[in-house]
Amino acid sequence: MEGTGTDRWLIETERLGKEYRLGDVPLLALCDVSVRIAPGEFVAVMGASGSGKSTFMNLLGCLDSPSAGLCRLAGRDVSHLDADELAGVRNRLVGFVFQGFNLLPRTPAVENVELPLVYAGVPARERRSRALARLAEVGLADRAWHQPSQLSGGQQQRVAIARALVNDPLLILADEPTGALDSRTSVEVMALFQAFNARGITVVLVTHESDIAAFARRTLRFRDGRLIDDRPVAAPRVAAEVLAGWRPAEVAA
Ligand SMILES: Nc1ncnc2c1ncn2[C@@H]1O[C@H](COP(=O)(O)OP(=O)(O)O)[C@@H](O)[C@H]1O
Ligand SMILES: [Mg+2]
Repeated sequence: MEGTGTDRWLIETERLGKEYRLGDVPLLALCDVSVRIAPGEFVAVMGASGSGKSTFMNLLGCLDSPSAGLCRLAGRDVSHLDADELAGVRNRLVGFVFQGFNLLPRTPAVENVELPLVYAGVPARERRSRALARLAEVGLADRAWHQPSQLSGGQQQRVAIARALVNDPLLILADEPTGALDSRTSVEVMALFQAFNARGITVVLVTHESDIAAFARRTLRFRDGRLIDDRPVAAPRVAAEVLAGWRPAEVAA
């Protein structure tokens, strides 16, 4: 019956497909993807470049609409919404983190973190206090007034994570969030995702690195736009433990 998945699944896709058109040539970027993700899961999306990972994430995050099948987010079919409706669902439910951080340049960290609250119409004073609290949670309380260019890559990504969380989303979608970071900084970012996941936020993270996917509790693998594998991670790595055991030689590397 309609709605049976409403509470049980945060994300539910049925034969989801996406076709891009390059002139007259159709390109099937995603085909027949049926998957269910429960609230609180931590899922890594893997696959070679061009396999459809970002296309899949963009559909889950209401950045784009499918050309076939359907996608439900928190029980609502988001497959056929117009641009304004998509933006509304996105702003309420989803926080995004990207490989390139996507921060506004020449803009202090705290103002970057406030942005989703500006769109949501939250009053200025409350925006500021919520943004500062999120920056503190990612360990950047003392960097609130730094501009992106004054921060390291890892710090910039933490600002982006604070921004993704400032609206209290149900879902974090992260597309290659460690792709531009060194290995230790990558594990620090994974520690943040694991901490927020432990508080109940669902995390779906694209990576082509298996040692990063090993921090998740489930992996989906795409090839040529199709979901070819879906399995639990037997013993997920614990980022906080990896950091605690990090040897100085590895820090220097
Ligand atoms: N906006 C677009 N227009 C046309 N083709 C696209 C577009 N975005 C992605 N593609 C194509 O769709 C396929 C899947 O791309 P993508 O989802 O970005 O893969 P991945 O993130 O796994 O590298 C690729 O062949 C890519 O070239
Ligand atoms: Mg991609």
